[in-house]
Amino acid sequence: MTARTDELLRAEDVSRHFPIRGPFGTRTGVLKAVDRVTLDIRRGETLALVGESGSGKTTLGRCLLQMEPVTSGRVRYEGVDLTALPPQRRRGYHRSMQVIYQDPFSSLNPHRTALQQVLEPLRVLTTDADPTGRALEALEQVGITGDAVHKYPRAFSGGQRQRIGIARAISVRPAFVMCDEPVSALDVSIQAQIVNLLTRLQGELGLTYLFISHDLSVVRHIATRVAVMYRGRLLELGDTEEVFADPRHPYTRSLLRAIPVADPRRARAAALRPSPGRPEFDWPEEPQPLVEVSPGHLVAT
Ligand SMILES: Nc1ncnc2c1ncn2[C@@H]1O[C@H](COP(=O)(O)OP(=O)(O)OP(=O)(O)O)[C@@H](O)[C@H]1O
Ligand SMILES: [Mg+2]
Repeated sequence: MTARTDELLRAEDVSRHFPIRGPFGTRTGVLKAVDRVTLDIRRGETLALVGESGSGKTTLGRCLLQMEPVTSGRVRYEGVDLTALPPQRRRGYHRSMQVIYQDPFSSLNPHRTALQQVLEPLRVLTTDADPTGRALEALEQVGITGDAVHKYPRAFSGGQRQRIGIARAISVRPAFVMCDEPVSALDVSIQAQIVNLLTRLQGELGLTYLFISHDLSVVRHIATRVAVMYRGRLLELGDTEEVFADPRHPYTRSLLRAIPVADPRRARAAALRPSPGRPEFDWPEEPQPLVEVSPGHLVAT
């Protein structure tokens, strides 16, 4: 992959290893949560990251945002190698790169009103002397207005709490937002509203999304491109329609087979279960560079 001018973020050969500890804390091995992943995220796109539980999606996202140190490799944001920056110079990037979490219950402080929740990142990450106006504007952008801004999390439904989480993320005017399973904890009836809100905000604010999701029907609906992970490795990357229509890696095929299109509820239950044991396809000792099978469509060998 060569650098593109519309590239916002790039992972270059990124790994994140965790020690596996046996009894008495002895180190018995290493877990390659992310194993030599190279990918780019383009300005204004939604790149979906899919793969079963434990495949390394959140860890890769956290490495991109510098919330997790990389074991090796580089992360470039607007061309700047974040992994080489001293901590104090990463501060500006913390504002520009935000996260929307899965669970709007645990990600909000129960003792703070909606407005206070949104003021917090503004106070920490911006120099705005009076950020109240900006916080109210962000809340309005997600549909929380009037007296509601002075209510505590317990007064809100799951969908409304997620709206507050989104307001927190957009309040500081980020360019990049990692959405880590942003609708998985919500009622099915609410999920579409939140997905539509994220899509609208992306257009209005020019956001770039990394969208981590188990739900392939949502991914097909909103993603520009899809990246497929398995056991820490990137196995396939390409335009959403192409990957869904012509999946090349056996693992991607098995993921897509797991969605019976006619019954979305069963699809959610069936999709992306962990598969124990050895993979049923070639699994080289070390990950190999992906092969471009058609323009922009990359597959692991
Ligand atoms: N801090 C940590 N210490 C040790 N192991 C970790 C740590 N964080 C993640 N892991 C392990 O790394 C692997 C990848 O985890 P990760 O949370 O990135 O997967 P995921 O694809 O996001 O899964 P899910 O879909 O369940 O959220 C898992 O085996 C996990 O147990
Ligand atoms: Mg995760």
